[in-house]
Amino acid sequence: MYPSFRIAAGALALSLSQAVFALDCDPAAGQKVFQTKCSACHALDSDRVGPHLGGVVGRPMASVQGFAYSPALAGAKDSWSLERLETWLTSPARMFPETTMAFGGLRKADERKAVLCFLQSQG
Ligand code: HEC
Repeated sequence: MYPSFRIAAGALALSLSQAVFALDCDPAAGQKVFQTKCSACHALDSDRVGPHLGGVVGRPMASVQGFAYSPALAGAKDSWSLERLETWLTSPARMFPETTMAFGGLRKADERKAVLCFLQSQG
């Protein structure tokens, strides 16, 4: 069985396209991407340079209490859908030019997909 089966089953309730997204993804590969590219600033359950990312999939943007977001992100009204996270991680500064997330983006689509798979599994 796919390790992501339970995640996919949960995502099915949300939308079929998200379930397909989850079904053929690899959380273990995503954890490696997270460790090498994100963990300098982010942890899953505590705020560091960036806010904690456990449960970020589906979370309203800039909603971690006590974290000092940039005005750019603090003014955002949407939630972090997988699609918006994909856009964000491709180029944070293109999505929110004034963001304080000093990260150029994940250029490789498979890395974005893997890290989102991992984050989705950490809900
Ligand atoms: C150099 C430090 C740094 C790195 C590296 C970094 N981030 Fe961030 N991240 C931040 C900061 C700072 C913010 C808050 C941005 C703001 O307020 O504009 C943030 C915000 C975010 C948010 C929005 C969270 C929310 O609560 O709205 C997400 C999602 C996110 N980062 C994901 C990632 C992922 C995934 C990676 C790795 C691929 C990553 N970040 C790499 C510093 C970083």
